[in-house]
Amino acid sequence: ARVAILVSGRGSNMAALIDAAAEPGYPAEIVAVVSNRPNAGALAVAERAGIPTAVVDHKLFPSRDAFDAELDRTLAGFTPEIVCLAGFMRLLTGGFIARWEGRMLNIHPALLPSFKGLDTHRRALETGVRLHGCTVHLVTEEMDAGPIVAQAAVPVLDGDDEASLAARVLTAEHLLYPRALALWASGRARLVDGKVVVDGPD
Ligand code: GRF
Repeated sequence: ARVAILVSGRGSNMAALIDAAAEPGYPAEIVAVVSNRPNAGALAVAERAGIPTAVVDHKLFPSRDAFDAELDRTLAGFTPEIVCLAGFMRLLTGGFIARWEGRMLNIHPALLPSFKGLDTHRRALETGVRLHGCTVHLVTEEMDAGPIVAQAAVPVLDGDDEASLAARVLTAEHLLYPRALALWASGRARLVDGKVVVDGPD
């Protein structure tokens, strides 16, 4: 499947997807990386890997609708079949999400449905959970609430601070996202009654 990745920042998850897709037999090909921030570190990483990049700078658009329309046009130029959000820090409009329904994945740095939104590691530490982790899910209009494709858990250790916990989760993210994209792109994971089922051993 042809996959475009949307980014806003350093792009370590994007890099994990690019590396996985370079392996023979991986069921997806990364055809483009699109950033809403012109100075995102992810852009240079993608270029070094030979992936076409584009910038749609949200600051140049008067509304979310106008930004999303341009994002849609830009994506269309790469004819992706799946869109992966990887540290993409803009809320997308309902219209955009509806057009990509069932074909757009996101990685969230928490075990959903716990800790939707921002500052997940700080909130996990404040709450005192002993397990934390990350989730790849299909994007639906309600933020961080779409069907869950795959999750990975990591322990919260005594003495963890936000940085140490974030690093442990990020390592898990880099393994999880390529696995989840492979499941979705290959059709081994599919939606049944609004939930993801996976054929064969996960
Ligand atoms: C990751 O923790 C991801 O889960 C969250 O934002 C962070 C992005 O990091 N949505 P990177 O840009 O992939 O390095």
